[in-house]
Order: sequence, then structure tokens, then C-alpha cells
Amino acid sequence: MTFPTVRLRRLRTTPTLRAMVRETTLSPAHFVYPLFVVHGRDVQEEIPSMPGVYRQSVDRLAREVEEISDLRIPAVILFGLPAHKDPLGEENFAANGIIQQAIRAIKQANPDLLVITDVCMCEYTDHGHCGIVHEGQILNDETLDILGKVAVSHAAAGADVVAPSGMIDGMVRAIRQALDRADFKQISILSYAIKYASSFYGPFREAVQSAPAFGDRRTHQMDPANVREALREAQLDVDEGADMLMVKPALAYLDVIQRVRDRFDLPIAAYNVSGEYSMIKAAAAQGWLDERRVVLETLTAIRRAGADIILTYHAKDAARWLMATE
Ligand code: PBG
Repeated sequence: MTFPTVRLRRLRTTPTLRAMVRETTLSPAHFVYPLFVVHGRDVQEEIPSMPGVYRQSVDRLAREVEEISDLRIPAVILFGLPAHKDPLGEENFAANGIIQQAIRAIKQANPDLLVITDVCMCEYTDHGHCGIVHEGQILNDETLDILGKVAVSHAAAGADVVAPSGMIDGMVRAIRQALDRADFKQISILSYAIKYASSFYGPFREAVQSAPAFGDRRTHQMDPANVREALREAQLDVDEGADMLMVKPALAYLDVIQRVRDRFDLPIAAYNVSGEYSMIKAAAAQGWLDERRVVLETLTAIRRAGADIILTYHAKDAARWLMATE
């Protein structure tokens, strides 16, 4: 059967029909909203390269949680700026560290909001690297203990899901063992299994002042040219006990999301990262793009590629726009 009997335009004639045959759904139920938390009182500083995204103090989180919950966004992921940075990033696993305080404040405001924490060293270390540094090298196995301690401290504060993001070999296994030993067997691991050494993280590093003091992250994050290696990374993390897998960034890596979706049956998350957000915001501010349409198209594309979950700074705006079109 072919034209003129077959006419694909028939199914596009009305909005109702288009909605009925739409293959991909987008709703706030898939979103995770990232929050940046700082010490202090009544702090709300906009991140210059990320308009609409703020560093906030713990005392402002109850209000933020109410807004997020009203928009029916089910989850947040937390990033913290410590009071001091040091070689081991001590505040990262301190009982009263910035993230531990933030988790408690969020859970107090709404126990049902899912709290995911980023487990990595780079925001806490004075050298800005994701592991213990010795003579200019990132030590892999020595770093695993610290990651386990960080995950346990987040679980103890009330986190639901921990998300190791350092691309340290063995991180999922080490964290699973540490959590289980501390009797946090029910805490799940969302592994940043496939994280590329991407320049799209630039605005995020400005937000948390985590740019490496020397060198770069190419000895642990993946080469953007590789995709078979991504499947090996994913397989290892599955074998080590990851509950969910993440691909990061999202937009330049939709093919990777699709390959991982095809191969694995775990839930897949995609991180629509800071630089991807900044590009759209900058073009929209110039009047060069229709922000609402471009954001919804972008998030739909990430879903179409195969992501179940999208971590995105657009979450609140997108949730508002989706509610308005319901
Ligand atoms: C590491 C981490 C980074 C991001 C999330 N977790 C930065 C990095 O790897 O340098 C980037 C997120 C973004 O760009 O939005 N803790």
C-alpha cells in the first residue's frame, strides 16, 4: 500500500487525533529538579549563566518545596556548596553538612518529595577533583571509602536515592556495600553510569565553584566520541548493583540514551545539563527562540530517545506549561 491510498497527513488533521496517536508522553511526573544549597540565612542568589536558577540557603527550602510539590514535580536532586573546601572534602560526609541539613529541611517540609543526592567529591575539595588526589593523580580505590561514607551520611539524613557522579571505577559496588552495612538496604542507587567529559557542564561549575584547580576530568569521565564504551560502563554498574542508570549530558547524546534503553531494562535517567539550559535561555532572552516551545520539544526528544526520568533546570517552567495545556 502506498500513495494515494496511504496518506500520513490524515492522522495529523486535528489536535485530538494528533494527541491520540502521539507516541511519547511528557509530564511533570518524569522530572527531577536540581537545587543548589548554600550556607547562610535568607540567601537567594541567581546563577548568572543560568537565569531563573538560584543558590539558596536551607531556610528558604520549605517555600521551594511547596512550589515544586504544587507543580507535581516528584523529585529533587541536591547540590551543595560547603563552608570550606579541603583536600578530602570533609563537609561532604559531615552529619551537619550543607546537604545533610538540606535533606532534613526538605523532608520536614514534604516527606513525599523524593530526595536524590549527588555523591561526588568535586564540590567539596579545594582542588575541585572528584577523588583523592596524590601527586596530580586521582586515586581510584582510595576514593571509594569516602564515597561510601558520603552515601551513608545522606541516607542517615533521610535521602531516598543516592546518585554517584564521579565516574570512579567500583563506585556503585562500594556505595551499595556501605549502605547495606549501615542497614540502608532500601536506599536506591541512581548511577551516573555514563557521564561524558563534556564542556556543557561549564555553568554548573560556576554555580558550585567546582572547576578543577588543575587538569581536567578526562581521566575519569568518558570521551564524547565513544558509545560502545558507554554500554560497558552501564553493564558494570548494573553488575555492581545500580538500580537506575543515568546518561549525561542529554542533548548531544540522544543516541547513547537510545542504545542504553535498547540494551537494559533498568529505568534510565537523562541529565539535561546546565550548558544545555543556558543555551536555550540565552537564545530566548534575545528573542531568537520561542522558549516554551523549544523546551517542551527538547524534553519530548529526550523522552523519545528512551529516558524515563529527566533531570532538568527547566522542570518548573515546563511543569507550568504542561499544566496550562492539560
Ligand atoms: C559532579 C556533577 C557535575 C554535574 C552534576 N554532578 C559536574 C561535573 O562533572 O563537573 C553537572 C551538571 C550540570 O552541568 O548541570 N558533582
